[in-house]
Amino acid sequence: MIDILTNDYRQPLLPPQYPFVELDMGCGRGKFTLELAKRFPDRLVLASDVMLGRLRKLNMKVEKRKLQNVILLRAESGQLAEFQLPPASIDRIHILCPDPWPKDKGKGRRVICTAFLCSLKRVLKPGGILHLSTDNAPYFEDWQKMLSQLPFLSPVPDAISDISDIKTDFELQWLAEGTPVRHLAYRIKTLCSQREE
Ligand SMILES: C[S@@+](CC[C@H](N)C(=O)[O-])C[C@H]1O[C@@H](n2cnc3c(N)ncnc32)[C@H](O)[C@@H]1O
Repeated sequence: MIDILTNDYRQPLLPPQYPFVELDMGCGRGKFTLELAKRFPDRLVLASDVMLGRLRKLNMKVEKRKLQNVILLRAESGQLAEFQLPPASIDRIHILCPDPWPKDKGKGRRVICTAFLCSLKRVLKPGGILHLSTDNAPYFEDWQKMLSQLPFLSPVPDAISDISDIKTDFELQWLAEGTPVRHLAYRIKTLCSQREE
């Protein structure tokens, strides 16, 4: 099913029977979503994007594969993080190959910025994981700088070792062209571990 959240203050209804929730933010054509849902049938997999056409095509694939654990959200990533997702509701967020807007005049349209990363803190459960990837070296370096300045995050490369073989549609395209795609994984520190520092 596709839940349309754009221009809405409503929160999506998340089925309570799943103890672990993954979110593929900006899922695009959804290869990663489908693989994740197949690999972890006991986890809820949310996949969000603003492009309704892509979500409709992905929804057909979800139905064809009879994947019961997927919910598609038509939602803008910033709004999802700021107020549409329930607080502390997500175990692992994947933002994979987001548009890098490489030209100077487009940089303001980038999804990943410090304010956005801070809003993800609201939706991740304590100890939850943020997984990012990009083919764009300057964007990647910006992320490293931003992330190192956020005291509530710590790097945990092993937190994505269980899915390192799953490639997104865009990652496959970049790899086919010989362009490496780099990944980062960070953990939201629990309140206790923040106090210990
Ligand atoms: C470059 S594609 C990557 C898709 C997929 N993650 C992959 O790696 O194949 C970026 C996707 O993010 C979506 N997107 C861009 N900005 C967004 C935003 N602010 N909110 C939600 N989706 C967004 C686009 O519609 C597009 O499907």
